[in-house]
Amino acid sequence: MSSKGLALGIDVGGSGIKGAPVDLKKGEFAASRLRIDTPQPATPEAVCKVIAQIVERFDQVRDDSPIGVTIPGVVTEGVVRSAANIDKSWIDYDVKSLLEKELDHTVHVVNDADAAGVAEVHYGAAEHKRGLVILTTLGTGIGTALLLDGKLIPNSELGHLEIDGLDAETVAASSIKDKEGLSYADWAPRLQRYYSHLEALLWPDLFVVGGGVSKDADQFLPLLKIRTPIIPAKLRNKAGIIGAAHLAKEAHRGG
Ligand code: BGC
Repeated sequence: MSSKGLALGIDVGGSGIKGAPVDLKKGEFAASRLRIDTPQPATPEAVCKVIAQIVERFDQVRDDSPIGVTIPGVVTEGVVRSAANIDKSWIDYDVKSLLEKELDHTVHVVNDADAAGVAEVHYGAAEHKRGLVILTTLGTGIGTALLLDGKLIPNSELGHLEIDGLDAETVAASSIKDKEGLSYADWAPRLQRYYSHLEALLWPDLFVVGGGVSKDADQFLPLLKIRTPIIPAKLRNKAGIIGAAHLAKEAHRGG
């Protein structure tokens, strides 16, 4: 297979590290996804070794193929800046340099929610949507991506808004719902508080709700009373890989 129009996306999560070559015209996987358990402890060195194994397994990846990697934390210029739900040794770690040395290949490193937001705006639920789109991923934490007229404003971190004196993700993330054994009806008021606060601050044109729990969106989105349209993500667990690949290609092109 030619490497033209392909980029490799790798999504680093708490339980698995997943990668696939992405056809950037279609926004689809060009080969089956490979998943390897996240090593424990999930230190940068251990995770980078797994990323290298994934890259090696895809022979579609050539010297000129962009490679994008998501991390569940703030990333500026390839350096991880926060670690709310990952090993603290990631803070101030230059993942880009480490991976580039390990792989002998240029790598683009991005926040996981930013990658998912970019994928949804280019190929998914918010395709061609102008104005301000906010993607939220409800999972272990709450990740957010802000996209204005399709352009990403990176590292928004609105999952950590302080609401009623608490970090929002410690109240409204879907992991908290599971931990406390809440039903969708029990959880909905927490989401209501979160999304109505977000909309009062930013007046977005659309919310897209991602994360594994978005497959059950019909059980909780109708319970929310907010003025902004709110819809489930379309690409689900493919969004991180597709968005990372897309952003890597853009970075490769120089923007
Ligand atoms: C992190 C974000 C991340 C989100 C989802 C939050 O705790 O601060 O950077 O996007 O979790 O993984």
